Amino acid sequence: MGLLLPVVLCALAACCGARSPPLPPLRFWPPIARSCNDSGILELAGFALQDINRDRKDGYVLSLNRVSDVREHRQVNSLGSLFYFTLDVLETDCHVLSRKAWKDCGVRTLHESVYGQCKALFYVNRPGRVLYVLAYNCTLRPVSRRSIHMTCPDCPSPFKLSNPKVLETAAESLAKYNKESASKQYSLFQVTRASGQWVFGFAFFVEYLIKESPCTKQEASSCALQPPDSVPVGLCKGTLTERELQKFVSVTCDFFEPQVPAPGGENPAANQGPADLPTVEESQQKIIAPTNSPSKAVPKGSVQYLPDLDDEKKPEDTQENSPVEAFPVQLELTTDPLGESLDVSFLFLGPEEKKVVVLPFPKKEQRSAECPGPAQQANPLVLPP
Ligand SMILES: *[C@@H]1O[C@H](CO)[C@@H](O)[C@H](O)[C@H]1NC(C)=O
Ligand SMILES: *[C@@H]1O[C@H](CO)[C@@H](O)[C@H](O)[C@H]1NC(C)=O
Repeated sequence: MGLLLPVVLCALAACCGARSPPLPPLRFWPPIARSCNDSGILELAGFALQDINRDRKDGYVLSLNRVSDVREHRQVNSLGSLFYFTLDVLETDCHVLSRKAWKDCGVRTLHESVYGQCKALFYVNRPGRVLYVLAYNCTLRPVSRRSIHMTCPDCPSPFKLSNPKVLETAAESLAKYNKESASKQYSLFQVTRASGQWVFGFAFFVEYLIKESPCTKQEASSCALQPPDSVPVGLCKGTLTERELQKFVSVTCDFFEPQVPAPGGENPAANQGPADLPTVEESQQKIIAPTNSPSKAVPKGSVQYLPDLDDEKKPEDTQENSPVEAFPVQLELTTDPLGESLDVSFLFLGPEEKKVVVLPFPKKEQRSAECPGPAQQANPLVLPP
């Protein structure tokens, strides 16, 4: 691998000495398959995932389980490198709006796991102090309910968010929170997760986003005011247990760091400092990630949620080798095998134009022998095949 570059350079020297056409050959530098267990690669993968999480508006923060594949495409004219990452990820219990770094979030227990794969095009230019995800796409699925059920028949199983019991649990637990709250009142924004379990009675577990209610505590039950542009301010976890005609409700809420200079609100769950990139030794490494994407920025990406794999397998394809890809993730900025150039000038302060060459996303078959790397959660139930 390390040998490739010198070889290319020699070829180049030979070609230029022979006075042949100017630039085109440079575009043919092939991407290099890197090791998925290299410490530098793991660090970059962590940054890439952090940038992906930062770009998202809904769902839970994704954490890195392992690097499944990585190619480095060195760019000409010391423009740095484009990395083609395939990352196996796990959902954490932090909502993306909390802006917490994935390393500060807890990974869900096995029976609650949501796992999948992301592809990311990550641009690194160390002299320019740029680490930036140009594009990404992820596909996630819940862990196989059938497999969980075999080892843990009593574990909670997922519920439809539209289930009346789910809404009841959210409403009752939020009512409890509001009742105990000193002044501010909150209303339901959106249910984000729900599950239930039978243990001498039914227990329901829900997670939901809340927004601030304009109503005061006194008018709480009769108030119909809606703030014009309400945004979620926190994530609550509520439970409702029904046992022998008695109801038990519990609730905890975590409030998000204000995004913008916000009206000084109470913030019960003080977070541990701003969720800014990076806390690394290379502290001079500044991350330039424009928040208001300029005209030249490409669309960044999205996260696709698919159902439990068991629900998708049809009775006829009983063999494991079903022809359908379990975690289809598409990330094609180009189909041209010679690549296309992409303007990344917006990532730099200077006025000059800077372009990188983007290739079709490399095929998994040609990845390094040292890929995939070791997994944080090595249970095959949460590793994409
Ligand atoms: C990302 O995936 C969506 C489908 O989920 C697809 O429409 C889109 O083109 C993909 N983005 C890229 C850059 O390939
Ligand atoms: C990954 O690298 C570490 C040291 O950097 C080593 O201890 C470990 O065995 C490696 N794992 C694999 C699967 O290669």
